[in-house]
Order: sequence, then structure tokens, then C-alpha cells
Amino acid sequence: MGKVILTGDRPTGKLHLGHYIGSLRRRVELQNAGDYDKMYVFMADVQALTDNADNPEKIRQNIIEVALDYLSAGLDPQKCILYIQSQIPELPELTTYMMNLVSVSRVQRNPTVKTEIKMRNFEANIPMGFFSYPVSQAADIAAFKATTVPAGEDQEPMLELTREIVRRFNQVYAPVLVEPSIMLPENAVCRRLPGTDGKEKMSKSLGNCIYLSDDADTVWTKVKSMYTDPTHLNVSDPGHVEGNAVFTYLDAFSTDADFAEFWPEFQNLDELKAAYTAGGIGDMKCKKLLNNVLNKMLEPIRVRRHEFEQDIPEIYNILKKGSEVARAAAAQTMDEVRAAMRINYFDDEELIRSQAERFKK
Ligand code: TRP
Repeated sequence: MGKVILTGDRPTGKLHLGHYIGSLRRRVELQNAGDYDKMYVFMADVQALTDNADNPEKIRQNIIEVALDYLSAGLDPQKCILYIQSQIPELPELTTYMMNLVSVSRVQRNPTVKTEIKMRNFEANIPMGFFSYPVSQAADIAAFKATTVPAGEDQEPMLELTREIVRRFNQVYAPVLVEPSIMLPENAVCRRLPGTDGKEKMSKSLGNCIYLSDDADTVWTKVKSMYTDPTHLNVSDPGHVEGNAVFTYLDAFSTDADFAEFWPEFQNLDELKAAYTAGGIGDMKCKKLLNNVLNKMLEPIRVRRHEFEQDIPEIYNILKKGSEVARAAAAQTMDEVRAAMRINYFDDEELIRSQAERFKK
């Protein structure tokens, strides 16, 4: 059957450095390594609508933003299938059948959904679609027989549920679906990048993001105002690197080559950290380094984005083609699902023949 990677994002906003370090950079590496037979990356607009039902225009606008972010970060439609969830009607079909294989209380136990319900003040009135999105996500994954789902820790409960439903399906009907495993980010910085304000998470609603599409001036303005070490008042004071967002970002993004290019006094980040901790290194110099590191990484992404922006109709074309290819794969799985569930009435000649036989007597 082969190894199949599948992953996606809710198109509710432009992608930022947290997305890049947490998933996008890894996806591009996986795509280019070519160790997998197929790779699917999709925009989960159906899932985004489960808590944005009254704001479809927001999702519509962000489809193109996220597509540009994907392509400019290096996802290549020749190597991976880019598509839009809502364009695959086989997904809600599979969701419906999967709902019979899981209980309400099982879905209620999902800690990620619990947190999201609180955050959205949905406690008194949870939309049914929102409540059941983990089942729809199981269908997203199983319809493509994905073996590997690169995602953050918060997606672990979804993957557990997917495996349970798949196992149940295979037991009750026939072994058609595949149990996927999660591929978590490689290390702590990749798991959760703090915001520029030092708060635990980069998030649009907190206004503490650096976006992949930010130009160099915007990045410098944001880096200049970044949270560092509030006890580091004079350059000569000893500084702290823990909880210092500038150093967390340097941990995430800087390489030894960056030091050779931008701050040759130090060979690597460990040396700079030691000097900063001892005292005598100013925050502004560290911010300048970070700004150089980020812009070196973002510049090729900006150049590609600018090229893709020149032909927006072609982006929609890429997504349309990708959606067609994805739909064909999901349709193939659904043929097997319907046969396993005994609802393939019209393409089962043996059924028709045997029923005719039965009524002859
Ligand atoms: N839940 C994911 C998110 O919030 C998006 C998503 C939907 C997804 N379906 C998926 C991710 C299937 C991986 C696999 O970002």
C-alpha cells in the first residue's frame, strides 16, 4: 500500500513563523526527501467553518493566503497534492458512516476539543458540526489511507480517535482502512514558538506574530519591539536566555553559518548565550542578529511569493487539479468502504443475481 503522508491547516489566517517552524519547514523537507509514496497537504475549510459558520468570507479569503504561503515556502504541486477539503464530497460521506462507530461520550473526552469549546464560549451551545469535527478529521485521514500525519501535540487526541474508529471499521466490516500514526515536531522549540511578546504561543488573536508574508521593514519593526529579559537593564548586566523570546527564536532559526556571516565574534549560539549570560552584550545587537537570520530565511520565500502573486488564477488551477486528484483517491477508498458496508447495491452483480434467484421460488 505504501507510505502516505497527509496533513492540513484550517485556513483562518496567514501562516506565521510558528507554523513554519512547527510544520511547514518539515513538510517541505519530507516532500523533497521523497521517502513517501504520496503526500497530501490540504486546507481544512470544512473544519474551519465548524466555528466560523457565520463568517464564510473569512475562510474564502484565507484559502489563497494559505495557498501562497504553502507554495512560497516550497511545497511543490509536482511532488505533493494540494487540495481543498470541501471539494471532496467523499469526506462527509465517510464521516457519516464513522459516526456510527463512536459514542458521544468518547468524543466529549477529547482534551483539545474541550479547550476549544471553552475558548469559544461554546459550553452552553455547542454547534453539532463543531462537536463532531474530530470524526470528520478521522475521515480526512482515513479516506486517503494515510499512514503518517505530521502534526502538533494538540492533534494527538484526534489521531487516537482516528485509530479507534479505523480499528472498529475494520473489525465490523472488512479490513479496508489504515491506522495512521502522528509525526510530532522534532523538538521543544518546534512544538511551540512563543510570540514576539514572549507569551507562550504565536497567535493571530494575541497580535504577536511574524508572518511569512511580512516584508523586511515589518520584520525589523516587530523584532525591535520583542520581549527579552526584563532584568537586563544595562548592557553590562548579566542577561537571562530562558524565557527570552529573542534567544528562543535564535534557538529555532539560527545556524552556525549565520554566526560566521552576521556575528563572527561568536562561532555559534552557545558562545553568544554564554557571553550574554555573563553580561556585556546588548539586546539590540542580539535583535539585529535575529533580524538578519530571519530575513535570510524569509527572503527566498518572499521572492517566490512575489512570483506566484503574478498569476493568481494559476494558483486556483493548482488547487483545482490537486482537488481532482485527491477526490479520485478518496473515491477509490469509498468504493471499498461501501462494498465492506454492504451498501454497494448496484455494482454487485452477485447480489442482484442471488436476489432474483431467491424470489423465483
Ligand atoms: N485540526 C487541524 C488544525 O487545527 C487541521 C486538520 C483537519 C488536520 N484535518 C486534518 C490535520 C487531518 C491533519 C490531518 O490545524
